Amino acid sequence: MNHISLQINKAFGFVKEDEVKKLYPEAKKALQTLKDGTGAGNDFIGWLNLPEETTDAFLKDIQATADLLRHDSEVVVVIGIGGSYLGAKAVIDALSNTFAWIEQKKPLIVYAGQNISEDYLFELQELLKNKRFSIICISKSGTTTEPALAFRLLKTQLEEQQGLDDARRHIVCITDKARGALRTLATQEGYKTFVIEDNVGGRFSVLSPVGLLPIACAGFDIKHLIEGAKTMQHECQKDTDENIAIQYAAVRNALYRSGKKVELLVNFHPKLHFVAEWWKQLYGESEGKDHKGIFPAAVDFTTDLHSMGQYIQDGERHLFETVISVQEPNHQVDFPHNDANLDGLNFLAGKRVDEVNKMAELGTMLAHVDGGVPNLKLVLPKLNEYYLGEMIYFFEIACGISGYLLEVNPFNQPGVEAYKKNMFALLDKPGYEKESAAIKARL
Ligand code: PA5
Repeated sequence: MNHISLQINKAFGFVKEDEVKKLYPEAKKALQTLKDGTGAGNDFIGWLNLPEETTDAFLKDIQATADLLRHDSEVVVVIGIGGSYLGAKAVIDALSNTFAWIEQKKPLIVYAGQNISEDYLFELQELLKNKRFSIICISKSGTTTEPALAFRLLKTQLEEQQGLDDARRHIVCITDKARGALRTLATQEGYKTFVIEDNVGGRFSVLSPVGLLPIACAGFDIKHLIEGAKTMQHECQKDTDENIAIQYAAVRNALYRSGKKVELLVNFHPKLHFVAEWWKQLYGESEGKDHKGIFPAAVDFTTDLHSMGQYIQDGERHLFETVISVQEPNHQVDFPHNDANLDGLNFLAGKRVDEVNKMAELGTMLAHVDGGVPNLKLVLPKLNEYYLGEMIYFFEIACGISGYLLEVNPFNQPGVEAYKKNMFALLDKPGYEKESAAIKARL
């Protein structure tokens, strides 16, 4: 069976192969530290063995809950922000037919609680009016403003439209085991719940109920997703030079040390846009601290070659790219012949569209390398649950290793609190009187 693979040789014109390999022992030590649970943030590494620990009985429970929600809902609303929604959206978008939502054959999956936009919430409430819907509310703490606001609004709407008892059967909460506000509410109301373990941080939680329930609701095979992740758990915990997580962590740190401060995650399939959003949070929130860290950014090609291509080819040389390359598309379309040939493209007639896309990918990589942008490539044999599972686990463990190479705690996120503190001070939250006075004096 094929697996995802990593190619790093197009970085060696910028950092010597030797310099990258010199980091392998350090990376292996970081991996060992992760496995031993002796590094910084070691109370948040519950994700490390999650695929192996996922039992069939647990998957059956998730699937049964998903089937119940799917059964009679026109819409399933997934409420959550950051790590509590990006992974599910990444996988669902990557696997969905781009236009299936128009026909609404499955329940439509929509998202809420990932912003505070009044227009977004109004329009969502309008969409849900007189429709049967379910809610999956995901919040570890239960007090995050964005999802808490969305849940207040939509819970009331669901109860008004479907009655209290029916609403109770169509709300599922995914939250912490015992302490959080959402746990208390779910217990009071008798909602079905799943647990986010204390030792699994949001951005590492896609292979827990946080990702699995919405993905199952969207009709995708969570067993295969976990199988793929299990394979990479096995491969990426090996103490070898061939371990692609060791290679990725080492090469990106070598590039960073040589001045390449920005990593662009590149795709050639628009379905992968949210994979990049998930990856940006994973790496940005894990590594961007102590005034250090590669800035994770993303582009969708070829679309963005017509907007960002100029900068990447020719702007400041602080970039490197990691291309997610999908070997085999799921469908076939051939480039059509046209008698008039006004666009001069008949030389492509009869070729697979994917062959043109692949040559765009190869041509772009060579052009960018020539222009001073090192390129790494992660190859997915196909876009399916199994390989996405492999990719997710690979990026997660490589992130832990890479964070330790950078000498930061990859599992905390103290910086996220700053905006919340200011927002609450500006909104006069009780208990913030001193902060309110101080911030208002600055306005
Ligand atoms: O990765 C993280 O820890 C964050 O992105 C959280 O998932 C996000 O802030 C949401 O937190 P909560 O699940 O407590 O609502």
